[in-house]
Amino acid sequence: MQSLELRGDGKIPMVGLGTYGVLGEQVGKTIKRAWELGYRHVDTARNYGNERDIGRAIKDLNREELFITSKVPPSSLTRQGVINSINQSLEDLGTDYVDLFLIHWPSENMDLEMAMEGFKKMRDEGKIINFGVSNFGTIDLDMAIDIGEEMGMPVTVNQIQINPRNNNENLRKYCQNKGVAVVGYSPLGGGEMTGNPVIEPIGEKYGKSVSQVIIRWLIQNGVVAIPKATSEQHLREDIEVFDFELSQDEMRILNKL
Ligand SMILES: NC(=O)c1ccc[n+]([C@@H]2O[C@H](COP(=O)([O-])OP(=O)(O)OC[C@H]3O[C@@H](n4cnc5c(N)ncnc54)[C@H](OP(=O)(O)O)[C@@H]3O)[C@@H](O)[C@H]2O)c1
Repeated sequence: MQSLELRGDGKIPMVGLGTYGVLGEQVGKTIKRAWELGYRHVDTARNYGNERDIGRAIKDLNREELFITSKVPPSSLTRQGVINSINQSLEDLGTDYVDLFLIHWPSENMDLEMAMEGFKKMRDEGKIINFGVSNFGTIDLDMAIDIGEEMGMPVTVNQIQINPRNNNENLRKYCQNKGVAVVGYSPLGGGEMTGNPVIEPIGEKYGKSVSQVIIRWLIQNGVVAIPKATSEQHLREDIEVFDFELSQDEMRILNKL
């Protein structure tokens, strides 16, 4: 599995397993199967309500090989709120640390500096390895970068929606130019892009599905992809994306969709 170097500490695998809406036994079964297939990166959030189920699923896996991302909800963006939320996530996940913790969304009422102090305390205690944000536009991102620089806690990631229908190109480039890694959520547009008449013929050339071409396109744009898959076929497809390369022309076609 290819990885992307983070400004904070370590590397993030280029493909992760999205888990929004996957609960109970299903998330357990999915994570175990994903692990067997080679996934080493799981994306969750306090708001997904599945951290306890994920905790049960990962307890027999080699923790050091697994990259876990979770997120603090906007309603917890005070110093103590962040600390409480992360501690609860750690307890539910049954782990001493999480590789990447994000602010799930910016909130109009948040005191970003105070919230980031909560993250810093958890980072200094080794409970989170990297700090990042999600759904941050350029103004909030710049503010977080500045505060982070003063605190010695870099913003390592901005997790934003990226798929061919909404490629968020300007924001993606803005982040990348600032050394903030981009993680693309809903890469498959919620699964509604299969059969796309522009992408399908590109896939046929490589013996790949539309979803595989899309995930490959994210990766070649330097973006980490976190597709959510539960079926065996989808899980397999979404990670078998490292044995072909889109040409520059094909990248341009996808960038313009
Ligand atoms: N930070 C945020 O605010 C935010 C927001 C949204 C999502 N996310 C994260 O991003 C993850 C992914 O986004 P998403 O769940 O919205 O949507 P997505 O990954 O774009 O699409 C998921 C859908 O695509 C299907 N699928 C997966 N692989 C496929 C394949 N190879 N061929 C055809 N269909 C395929 C899945 O089906 P099956 O399940 O039936 O296999 C599922 O219905 C989330 O689970 C979550 O972890 C973060």
